[in-house]
Amino acid sequence: MYVKAILAVLLGSQAVNGQLAKLAREAGLEYFGTCIGEGNTNDQTYMNILRNLDEFDQVVPENGQKWDSLQPQQGNFNWGQGDIVANIARQNNQLLRCHTLTWHSQLPGWVRDGNWNRQTLTAVIETHIATVLRHYQGQCYHWDVVNEAADDNGNWRNSVFYRVLGTDFLPISFFAARQADPSTKLYYNDYNLEYNNAKTDITVEMVKIIQRAGAPIDGVGFQGHLIVGSTPSRQALANTLRRFTALGVEVAYTEVDIRHASLPPNQQALVTQGNDYANVVGSCLDVDGCIGFTVWGFTDKYSWIPHTFPGEGDAMLYDSNFGKKPAWTSVSSVLAAAATGGPSPPPTSPPPTNPPPTNPPPTNPPPSGGNCSGMWGQCGGQGWNGPTCCSQGTCQQQNPWYSQCL
Ligand code: XIL
Repeated sequence: MYVKAILAVLLGSQAVNGQLAKLAREAGLEYFGTCIGEGNTNDQTYMNILRNLDEFDQVVPENGQKWDSLQPQQGNFNWGQGDIVANIARQNNQLLRCHTLTWHSQLPGWVRDGNWNRQTLTAVIETHIATVLRHYQGQCYHWDVVNEAADDNGNWRNSVFYRVLGTDFLPISFFAARQADPSTKLYYNDYNLEYNNAKTDITVEMVKIIQRAGAPIDGVGFQGHLIVGSTPSRQALANTLRRFTALGVEVAYTEVDIRHASLPPNQQALVTQGNDYANVVGSCLDVDGCIGFTVWGFTDKYSWIPHTFPGEGDAMLYDSNFGKKPAWTSVSSVLAAAATGGPSPPPTSPPPTNPPPTNPPPTNPPPSGGNCSGMWGQCGGQGWNGPTCCSQGTCQQQNPWYSQCL
C-alpha cells in the first residue's frame, strides 16, 4: 500500500515533468526519442523517465539489434537482446527506430574475416536483412539499413562490405530491406555529417548512388555525436540538413549527445552545452523534412561516451542522478517556442540566451527544499510565478524570461 502510494507519486511527478516529446510534437516533429541500454532496464528511475510518453515517444535499442547480437554465428539467430527494447516500445506505445543492419562495427568475426566473393557476401547480407526485418515486421518505424559507410576523411570505409562489393553493398542492402518489410522507412545513418565537410560530401554522393541504382532510401540519419563548444551554429546545421532534403529524402537526428571534452564541466560549459543542444534541435525545427530527434541515452549515468572517449563525458540532458541539466531546459525552451509560434532566437554562446519559455512553459524540476527550486530549477523571469529562491546553487539570471539555480 505504502509502496504503491510512493510509486504513484513518483510516476505522477514524472508525468508532470516530462514534456520533450509533447513539445516536439506540438512544434511539428514526429517524435522525440532516446536509445535504451538493454542492461539498464532494471533501474526503475531510469524506466519511469523513459516510459513517459510526454518525455520520450520513440525509442531505439542501444546494442541489441546489431549484427553480433542477432546473428553471432552464421544461421544462428538470437532475438533475446534485440527484443528487449522492441517489447518496451510495444508495451508503452512508443515508436521504435531499429538499428542497425549493414555496419562494419559490432560485426561478428565470421562476417568480418570470411573469405567471401561477390555472390557469397551478397547472400549473407540478404539473408541477414530478410530474416531480421521479417522478425520485426510491422514494429520498426525506421530501419538504419547501412551505418557509417564513410570514414572520417570522407573516403569509402575499408570494410569487408566495400572490399568485396565496392559501393554495390549500398543498393543491395536497401533493396533487401524494402523487399523484406515494405512498411518501414529505410535510413542511411552516420556521424560527423554535421560539419559539412568531405564526409558530408561523400554521403550526398552515397544517396545519389543508391537512388541511381533504383534502390529505395527514405532518410538520412545525422547521429549528432558532438562536442561542447565545437557544435556548428543552428543555421549552419540547417543548411547541411538541407543538402539531403534537396535530394528528396527526409532527415532526422538519430543519436545526439554533446560531450564535454574535459571533466568536470564548469558552469559556463554547462550553459554552452545547453546552447549547443538548442542549436541542434533548432536546426531540425528550421528544416522542412527534418522529422525527428533522438538522443543517444538521456542520463549521464549510462552514456557510452566515457568508455569510448576517456576523460570526456557528461553529454546528456539529465545528470547521473537523473536531475535535469541546463541543456534539458534549453531544449524544452526551444521546442516550446516553436510549439507556440513564439520567437526562437538562435542561442548564442556565451552569454546564455535561453529563448523565452512560452505557453506552455517548460516544466522545471520540482522544488527540492521547502519552497525553493532545486539545482537547475527556474527561480525567476518575466511571467514566472514559482519560487524565486534556490535550495541548491544560486539564482542567476539567464535572460529576462529565465533565471536558473546554478
Ligand atoms: C555504441 C553503444 O552506445 C555502445 O554501448 C557500444 O559499446 C558501441 O556502440 N554510432 C552508432 C551506435 O551507430 O550504434 C553506437 O553505439 C555509437 C556510434
